[in-house]
Amino acid sequence: MQLDNSVIVITGASSGIGAATARAASRAGARLVLAARRADRVQDLAAELGRAVGVRCDVTDQEQVGSLVQAALDSFGRIDVLVNNAGQGLQATTEQIALADFRAVLELNLVAPLALMQAVLPTMRRQGAGSIVNVSSGTTFADVPGTGGYVASKIAIERLSAIARNELDGTGIVVSTIIPFATDTEFLSSIRAGRADAEAMTAGADFDTPEQVADAILELIGSGAARADLVPAAYGGTR
Ligand SMILES: NC(=O)c1ccc[n+]([C@@H]2O[C@H](COP(=O)([O-])OP(=O)(O)OC[C@H]3O[C@@H](n4cnc5c(N)ncnc54)[C@H](OP(=O)(O)O)[C@@H]3O)[C@@H](O)[C@H]2O)c1
Repeated sequence: MQLDNSVIVITGASSGIGAATARAASRAGARLVLAARRADRVQDLAAELGRAVGVRCDVTDQEQVGSLVQAALDSFGRIDVLVNNAGQGLQATTEQIALADFRAVLELNLVAPLALMQAVLPTMRRQGAGSIVNVSSGTTFADVPGTGGYVASKIAIERLSAIARNELDGTGIVVSTIIPFATDTEFLSSIRAGRADAEAMTAGADFDTPEQVADAILELIGSGAARADLVPAAYGGTR
């Protein structure tokens, strides 16, 4: 997939990895549809980057997902890439995890990406081409106490991505998964419940910058590979 002039929808573009991906994609010549609940942030970023629109969208609301896709088509007439990046952490042991928190994290990290995929696929099928990148997490490589709810949502999106990829084989639509390692964003301060232990997340390794993850996402869009991870070899990854 060529990035130049392509239309890329990025969820969770108001901070961290999503905002960095927007900046990197803009530099590569893409046209952008930037979605988040904090509309002021995505609208300011869109105005700064140009050839971009910022759309207020809670991705757990199916109607708003439909409006987001419509806004992309109204603005640019096509959708080449979807980056399913919006997400949130949850920190609680299996004994203590509140079911309401678990359901909310599954809605955001798993159900919403599926809703987004379903919403863009008719357009991508009409085009005969498209790229979908779903964002998982390096926490799936370990069994760190307290991460079960979050890891369950991310493992599930990885499997859903892999199976969707097979289902779409031959259509020109490619589904990929990016697996960031611990990254310096607002993530740790926006955990839905509990506090993440940064030390346990990295086992002492350095945090990546969101720009490093953005570069990996763009590379994945370009290559169409099934998955890429930024997890150090010492933790079971390929880096
Ligand atoms: N940081 C890490 O260490 C790390 C590691 C591995 C994977 N990840 C994954 O990377 C992705 C991006 O996270 P980040 O690190 O960049 O964290 P972040 O800075 O907290 O960004 C999260 C983004 O998700 C958006 N979001 C949350 N709930 C939403 C909703 N209901 N509707 C629409 N947007 C919503 C937020 O925007 P609004 O609040 O404005 O809606 C924000 O833009 C997540 O899927 C996360 O699980 C992060």
